[in-house]
Amino acid sequence: MSFSAGILVLSLVTSLLDLGVSSCDKNCADKPVFSPSHLIVKYGDPASATCSVCQQDCLGNSFNIEHAVGDVEQNETKLHWKVDSLTEWDLNLTCFYNTAPDHRCCTPLPVTVYKPPDKVTFSFGDHTGPLLIDNLYHLRCTLENVAPFEKFEAVFYKNNRAFGQVYSYLFKDKTPLTKYLELDFVPQEYNHGEEYWCEAEFRLDSEGQQPPPVVRSQRVTAIVHYKPKFEADYDSRWITLTEGYKLQLNCTSSGNPSPSYNWTLPSGSVSSTTSSVFTIESIATKHQGTYTCIVSNGYGTLTEEFRVDVIRNYVGYLIAGVLALVVLLVLVGVFIYYRC
Ligand SMILES: *[C@@H]1O[C@H](CO)[C@@H](O)[C@H](O)[C@H]1NC(C)=O
Repeated sequence: MSFSAGILVLSLVTSLLDLGVSSCDKNCADKPVFSPSHLIVKYGDPASATCSVCQQDCLGNSFNIEHAVGDVEQNETKLHWKVDSLTEWDLNLTCFYNTAPDHRCCTPLPVTVYKPPDKVTFSFGDHTGPLLIDNLYHLRCTLENVAPFEKFEAVFYKNNRAFGQVYSYLFKDKTPLTKYLELDFVPQEYNHGEEYWCEAEFRLDSEGQQPPPVVRSQRVTAIVHYKPKFEADYDSRWITLTEGYKLQLNCTSSGNPSPSYNWTLPSGSVSSTTSSVFTIESIATKHQGTYTCIVSNGYGTLTEEFRVDVIRNYVGYLIAGVLALVVLLVLVGVFIYYRC
C-alpha cells in the first residue's frame, strides 16, 4: 500500500516538474533576444552576452538570466552576463521574464565552448611504408585533445590544394577527445611524390563569429609503388637495318622502384647489358634475329621482343667491285705498256 502511494507521490512531482518546464515558453511572441545569438568561446577565455527582455509589456521586473557561472548585471530591460574565464564545458544560459504568475517566456543561448586540438597529425591510416597502386588506403587526420569534436572538420590537402573534407556527428562529447577523421584513398601512379597534409578547421554555423585559427598537420610525401610499364608505344618492334648501321633497341619503362633490364640475344644467351637501351654500333648479318628485353621490379615483369633483319650492303659491294675493276684495268694497262 505504502509502495503504490510512493509511486503516486513520485508521478505527482514529475508532472509538476513537467508543468514547470512547459510553462517556460520558448515560442512566445515577444521573446527575450540574446546578443550574440550563438556564443562561441574558447575554453578558459572571458565571455559575455547581453539579453534584451520584454520589449513591450513586462509583468513587474521578474526577469533574469539563468546562469551557473559568471555574474549578471541589470540595466533597465537589458541583462548583461559575463565571466572572466569560462571553464565549463556544458553551459546553460537561459534568459527569461514572466508574462503572468505561471507563464515564463524564455530564450536559451546556444553556447559552444571549444578547445583547438593540441596537435593534428596526417597519416595513411595505420599503414607505414610505400603505398601500392590500386589498393585501398585511408587518408587520416588525427585531432588530439579537441572539443567539441563534432564541431571540427578535417580538410585534406595535396600539393597545396584542398581536395576533401570530413567531419563526424558520431561523437557528441562536449569535453576534449582525441579522434581521427578519414577519407578513402586508392593511389595511382601520378600520386607518387605528392605532398599530403590536413588541417583541423572549426565549422562555424552562424554568421559574424570569429573562427579559431586552423591547426595544420605535418606534411607527408606519398611513395607509390607500381609495376613496370612501357613509357612509349613502340611501333618499331620489327627492325630492318643495312649492314654497318647502328642498332638501338629502346625498352625504357616506368616503374617504382626503378626496374632492372636484361637482354636476351638471338643466340639465346643473356647480354651483359643492363641498360634500358641496347646498342650495336655497326650491325652485321650475324647479328640478325630476335632480341628480348625483360623489365622487372618487385611488383611485376614485362617482356618485349624486337625482331631485327639485316640487309647486305650491295651498294658497298658494288663500289668495292668497281674500284677493284679500275685498279685491275690500270694494272693490266701498265703491264701491257711495259711489255710493248
Ligand atoms: C628511349 O625511350 C624513352 C621513352 O620514350 C626516351 O625518353 C628515351 O630518350 C629513349 N632513349 C633513346 C636512346 O632513344
